[in-house]
Formats: sequence, C-alpha cells, structure tokens
Amino acid sequence: MQSLAAGYRALVIGASGAIGRAFHDTLVADPACQAVVALSRSTHAGFDLRESGSLEQAAAVLAPHGPFSVVIDATGVLSIDPSGPEKSLAAVRPAALNDLVQINAIGPLLLLRALTPYLARERCLYGKLSARVGSISDNRLGGWYGYRASKAALNMLLQTAAIELHRRLPNLVVAAMQPGTVVSPLSHRFVSAATATVSAAEAATGLLKTLDQLPARSGAYFVDYRGESIPW
Ligand SMILES: NC(=O)c1ccc[n+]([C@@H]2O[C@H](COP(=O)([O-])OP(=O)(O)OC[C@H]3O[C@@H](n4cnc5c(N)ncnc54)[C@H](OP(=O)(O)O)[C@@H]3O)[C@@H](O)[C@H]2O)c1
Repeated sequence: MQSLAAGYRALVIGASGAIGRAFHDTLVADPACQAVVALSRSTHAGFDLRESGSLEQAAAVLAPHGPFSVVIDATGVLSIDPSGPEKSLAAVRPAALNDLVQINAIGPLLLLRALTPYLARERCLYGKLSARVGSISDNRLGGWYGYRASKAALNMLLQTAAIELHRRLPNLVVAAMQPGTVVSPLSHRFVSAATATVSAAEAATGLLKTLDQLPARSGAYFVDYRGESIPW
C-alpha cells in the first residue's frame, strides 16, 4: 500500500470467505505489510456478528496485534432463508429480515466500535464490503428486500460513524465497498464463472488500490473496485 508507512499491520475480518481470503492473500504479498491478522468464525471460536459480546471479546483478543493501519471487513450474507433472497413482498419474513440487518449492518458497526481503540492514529484505512444493490438511488429492479435494506442500513451507519470518528481520528478513511460480481459461496446461485465480472483476487486488488488513494475526510465513501464512486 503506497499511502502507508512500511511495517504497517492489517486485519481482515471474514477471511474465511472468498473475497476476504483474497484480501488476506493480497495483503500478505505486500512487502510493506508486517503482519496480517485473520478474524472469522473459524479462527476465533464464538465470534459471530449476531452476538455483540463476541465482537468485544474478539477485539480484545486482537488488541496486542494492533494498531491496525488497514482493516477490511469482508463479512456478509445474501440470505438467511434457504429459498434465497426475497423476489416479492409476499416472501418477506420478519425474522429473516432482522437477521440480515444484524449480520450485514448492526454487527459490522459494533465491530467498528470495538476495534476503534486499536486503529492506527496515523493514516488508517477501514474498508467494509457493502454492495451496489444497497444504493437506494441505483435500485431500479426491486427484489432482494433484506439484502438491499441491510446494505443500505450499513451504508448509513458507516457514514454516521465516519463523521463522528473523524473528530477523534482525522487520518481515518472509512469506505463502503462494492467488489464487482464475484463467484463465491454467497453468490454462487446467481453468479457463474461466465457472468462474474471479476475474480476475488481482482476485486481485492482493485479495492485496496482504491482505498489507498482515498483522502481522509469527515464521512464515508461508497466506491467500487475500479475506484468509481457509487451514488448512495
Ligand atoms: N460475491 C459478490 O459478487 C459480491 C457482490 C457484492 C457485494 N459482496 C459482498 O462482499 C462480502 C463478501 O462476500 P463473499 O462473496 O466473499 O461471500 P462469502 O464467501 O460467503 O463470505 C462471507 C463471509 O462472511 C462471514 N459471515 C457470514 N455470516 C457471519 C456471521 N454471522 N458472523 C461472522 N461472520 C459471518 C463468513 O464466515 P464463515 O466462513 O464463518 O461463514 C465469510 O467469511 C459480503 O459483504 C457481500 O455482501 C459480494
């Protein structure tokens, strides 16, 4: 990462996922990166975005590995219901909607709060995987109620936290990120090798390059892997 001093430390949350693993491997390959710590349900027993106490515990365990100059949160779910994301109003289930908001929006916000003491005071890049379908202004197709709503909620929570945190951490960059269309366990029912726009490795490389170029500001960014801004 060009904008960070050599010897920086990174944390990848959701490193067990397709895109999270690609972020992890890309950061490990950067000679300027001293250490990359992985956090997921497989590396830390009990860690779960639905359990707020587990997020505080995970952050406390990670504290000795910080301060982190790069944090990537690549967690997320498309649907809780085995039948997949809702195609119609009739398919909306309150419990599933609640779960999606908890995993995609509330959990990531509480994790950002728990990790704040361990973010580097110098330049620090905090990238959370969001999704273009969380853009309200870009929604022309409808459907996928829970995923869209949880990502829109995530975007608002990131924007609000970024404004507040900028007062204490003026060198912090917060970004809601769209990786492109990537084949993964999350997307495999809808995305094939033929319809994917990028590999997980290309998505991670593009998003790290994008993050690297963003100046710190009071507010979050909503950007894609090509560095293009997405309307909220
Ligand atoms: N793939 C795409 O085309 C695409 C497009 C737009 C946006 N995105 C976003 O990119 C991110 C990564 O997606 P992906 O395609 O890499 O999916 P993935 O391979 O299914 O990875 C999802 C990650 O989220 C973690 N996770 C799920 N539920 C969790 C929970 N309750 N507590 C803690 N961790 C949990 C998973 O951990 P476990 O391994 O423990 O299950 C895994 O590390 C998501 O935010 C997704 O919305 C993806």
